[in-house]
Amino acid sequence: MTEENNNINNTEDDKVHDGSDSDGIKELNNPAPNWILFVLLLTYGFSLFYLIHYFGYPNNGNDQVTEYKNKMATVETEKKLEQDSAKVGVVMTREEILTEGSKLYLQKGCIACHGMKGEGNAIGPNLTDNFWINGCSEESLITMVTEGKPEKGMTPYKTMMTPEQIKTISLYVMQGLVGSNPDNAKAPQGVECKP
Ligand code: HEC
Repeated sequence: MTEENNNINNTEDDKVHDGSDSDGIKELNNPAPNWILFVLLLTYGFSLFYLIHYFGYPNNGNDQVTEYKNKMATVETEKKLEQDSAKVGVVMTREEILTEGSKLYLQKGCIACHGMKGEGNAIGPNLTDNFWINGCSEESLITMVTEGKPEKGMTPYKTMMTPEQIKTISLYVMQGLVGSNPDNAKAPQGVECKP
C-alpha cells in the first residue's frame, strides 16, 4: 500500500461506524443531511394528512364516492330546475311573452339578421309573414332557434339562451311578430302555413 492510500484510510477510519468492521469491510458513518431527512418527514406528514383527509374519515365528503354522489345530486337539481322553468314557459301570459320576447329579440341580436321588427333583411327571412322555410309549428321554431342552421347563416342559440328563453322567443315570433305587417317587409320565402 502506498503512503497516499494510507492517508485516505486514516481519514476514513475516523468515520467508521462503531463495531461495524466485518471481515475487513468497514461501514462509514455518513448520515444523510438534515434537510433531506426533513423533506422525508414532510412527505410522511403529507401522506398521512392525505390518507386521513381523502380516504380516512368515512362520510367526511371528500372521498370519490361521496364527491360523485354530490355531483350527480347537483346535476339532478339543475335538471329539475331547468324542467320547471321550461314548464313556466307554458303558463306565461300573452303579455309576458310579448315583453320578454321583444327584450330577448333585441338582446340576443335577432335584429341583426331579421330586422328591427322581424321584417327580414338581406341576411335573414321575414318573420312577420306566415311563410316558413323550416316549418311553422312551435316545435319547428324552437328547433330552429336551438340548433340554428349554420350553413344558411342562422345562429344556433342553444349555448346562448336557456330552453325557457328559446321557448319564449319562439312564442314571441308566433304571437308578436307574425301578422304585424311592418314596413319594408321582405318578400315571403318558403311555404305558407295554413291553419
Ligand atoms: C347571423 C344571422 C342571424 C341571426 C343573429 C338570427 N337569425 Fe334567424 N335566421 C337567419 C337565416 C339566414 C335564416 C334562414 C335559414 C334558412 O334559409 O332556412 C334564419 C331563420 C330563422 C327562422 C326560421 C324562418 C323560416 O322561414 O323557417 C326563425 C324562426 C329564426 N331565424 C328566428 C331567429 C331568432 C328568434 C333569432 C334571435 C334569437 C335569430 N333568428 C337570429 C339568420 C339569423
